[in-house]
Amino acid sequence: MANKHILIVPGDGIGQEVTAVGKKVLNKIAAKYSHTFTYDDALIGHIAIEATGNPLPDESLEKMRNSDAVLFGAVGHPKYDNDPSAKVRPEQGLLKMRKELGLYANIRPIKLFDELLGASSIKPEILKGADILFFRELTGDIYFGEKGRKNNGDTAFDVAEYSRYEVERIARKAFDAAKTRRKKLCSVDKANVLETSRLWRDVVQKVALEYPDVAVEYQFVDSTAMLLIKDPTRFDVVVTANLFGDILTDEASQIAGSMGMLASASIGDGTGVYEPIHGSAHDITGKGVANPLASILSAALLLDISFGMKEESETVINAVDKVLKAGYRTRDIADSTTPADKILGTERMGEEVLKFI
Ligand code: IPM
Ligand code: MN
Repeated sequence: MANKHILIVPGDGIGQEVTAVGKKVLNKIAAKYSHTFTYDDALIGHIAIEATGNPLPDESLEKMRNSDAVLFGAVGHPKYDNDPSAKVRPEQGLLKMRKELGLYANIRPIKLFDELLGASSIKPEILKGADILFFRELTGDIYFGEKGRKNNGDTAFDVAEYSRYEVERIARKAFDAAKTRRKKLCSVDKANVLETSRLWRDVVQKVALEYPDVAVEYQFVDSTAMLLIKDPTRFDVVVTANLFGDILTDEASQIAGSMGMLASASIGDGTGVYEPIHGSAHDITGKGVANPLASILSAALLLDISFGMKEESETVINAVDKVLKAGYRTRDIADSTTPADKILGTERMGEEVLKFI
C-alpha cells in the first residue's frame, strides 16, 4: 500500500479526452491494490496560453516538481501550424517542461499486440515478434541549441549541440535496459556527416566497454529508417539523439499498428512524465473517437517506472491485451473485418479496460 500524488496535465486537443481515461485506470488500480492516489491538475500548451499567456505557467511547473509523477496528454493547436511568426507557441511549454524537469531520457516501447498484426500497413510475416525499446535523448540536440535569424531575417539557423556527459547518461540508460532484454543495442547517428554524431559514437563506444554482454551495432539514421520497415525484428534497444528519435519513433509507431497505441516515459533525476506519443489531433478532437490506449499504457509505464509497481503495471497491460483479444477496437486500429459493434469510442474503450482490470 502506497501513497502517491499524481499530477494530471491533459494539455490540448484529444489530450483532454484520453488523459481522463488514463486517470480512471490509475484510480481503478489504486482501488484494486489498496493504494492511495491523490490528484491535482495543471495547464500546459494552447489552453495555458489562452488562460495565462504562458504555455507553461510557473504554477504548473511547481506542481510538477511537487508530484510523484505526471500523466500528460498532448500540446498543439492548428492555428500555430501555419503561422511561423507566432512568438508564443504551445510546444514551448512541452520543451520547457522537459528542460526544467531534466527529462533527458524519453523511453518509447514499440510493442505489437498480436491481435493488431493486421492493423499495420507492414506485412504480418515481417512484423511478427517486433519488440523495440527506443531511448530518445530529450533535452539536447538541435531542439535546444541556439536558434535565430541573420541577413535581415533571410537566413535562419538552429544549432545542434551535445556534450559527452549528455550522451553518456542516455547511453547508460539504454545499455542498462538492453541488459534486461535481448542484450542488443543499436546506436543511431549520422556520424558520416555530423560532428555531434561523431562525439555520440565515440561516447557510446566507450560506454559499451562497460557492458561486454551487450552486442552493439552502429547505424546511420537514414539506413535505420529503412531497416525499421524492412526488418523490424532485428532491433531490440535503440538509442538515438533528440531529433532522430522524434522522427524514427513516429515511423516505428506503424509497427505497433497505430500512433494511438504508443506510450512513452520521460525520465530524468526528478519527477517522471508519462505521455502518449501521439499529438493533440485536432482533426478528431471532441468527437469521442480518440484511442485512449496510449494514455492507458502510459499510466502502466508510470506505475512501473516511477512507482516500482510492476504487478500493477502488468495488470494494466494485460487488460489492454484482453480487450483487444475480445475484439474491441477504436477506429484507428479497426479494419474491414471489425464488426461495427466492436468499434468503440474513447470512453467505452476505457470502460472495457477497467472491466478487465
Ligand atoms: C513528441 C512531439 C514533440 C517533439 C513536439 C510536440 C514538440 O512531436 O513528443 O514527439 O517534437 O518532441
Ligand atoms: Mn514527435
